[in-house]
Amino acid sequence: MGRLENKVGIVTGAASGMGEATAKLFAQEGAKVVVADINMEGAKRVVAEIEAAGGIALAQYVDIGSPEKIEEMVLAAKNEFGRLDILHNNAARLDFKGDVDVVGMDVFEWDETMRFNLRSVLLGTKYAIPVMLENGGGSIINTSSMGGLVSELGKSAYAAAKAGVISLTKSTAVQYGKQNIRCNAIAPGMVLNESVVEHAPEPLRKLIDIYTDVKCTPRIGNPMDIANLAVFLASDESAFITGQVISADGGLLIKNPAVAEIQKQNLSW
Ligand SMILES: NC(=O)c1ccc[n+]([C@@H]2O[C@H](COP(=O)([O-])OP(=O)(O)OC[C@H]3O[C@@H](n4cnc5c(N)ncnc54)[C@H](O)[C@@H]3O)[C@@H](O)[C@H]2O)c1
Repeated sequence: MGRLENKVGIVTGAASGMGEATAKLFAQEGAKVVVADINMEGAKRVVAEIEAAGGIALAQYVDIGSPEKIEEMVLAAKNEFGRLDILHNNAARLDFKGDVDVVGMDVFEWDETMRFNLRSVLLGTKYAIPVMLENGGGSIINTSSMGGLVSELGKSAYAAAKAGVISLTKSTAVQYGKQNIRCNAIAPGMVLNESVVEHAPEPLRKLIDIYTDVKCTPRIGNPMDIANLAVFLASDESAFITGQVISADGGLLIKNPAVAEIQKQNLSW
């Protein structure tokens, strides 16, 4: 309790999933939180739950595809709570229908993915930094993905956007570090609510089983795994950490790819 006392934070995509868990944990740790989402009903529900638990929060409409709405979101934090210390650029467009392999790529889908999943992070950062500097600095947390670090059979645009988020994270950290702005990225790997896991339909069930198997930990991730990391990155406990991409993926990407086959063949190498 109190790790974010006297701080004001914005979390985008805070009406569900990791953003919801992060907004709630920020509030529990003493921050005043702007719960920003395109889904206002969900944002209001999250705010009501934060307030019922004794926290302070504001539901704010944002469409991360719109520069004007992103600027309005940043100004809402300043107008309502007087300052801005934390921005978690978490929301993303998660529609992969036309986002396939590079030859089959739908150009409109590519542009939309860049607009929502990369340009939005630039814009949040662009508008937040001047407000943060009014009070001596702040912490920006960008949600990348395991997809920004390794490639898959499809989702070429999503992967490129999330890799771009990592690059943007480092640019921000380098350019504004001396002014006390820190910027770090989180790279989650297969994170789902327990209720989603419990009621997963067949194709998702199979994916969950595969990911559970290849991770080093006994289970896949849940939103609190990400919220706990986001609180650390938002707090002064991480004052000496900037420009980093931190995987929260149960060790998914650290394993030598040969390990699976070696285990299958029961070799003791
Ligand atoms: N779940 C995973 O396994 C996983 C893995 C790697 C990375 N990520 C990343 O984590 C972040 C959160 O994912 P999640 O799984 O919690 O997603 P989610 O679907 O549970 O939540 C996303 C939220 O973003 C909001 N949103 C969607 N479009 C928006 C827009 N245009 N403007 C504003 N808000 C919008 C939605 O309403 C929703 O509340 C995303 O950046 C995603 O790419 C997720």
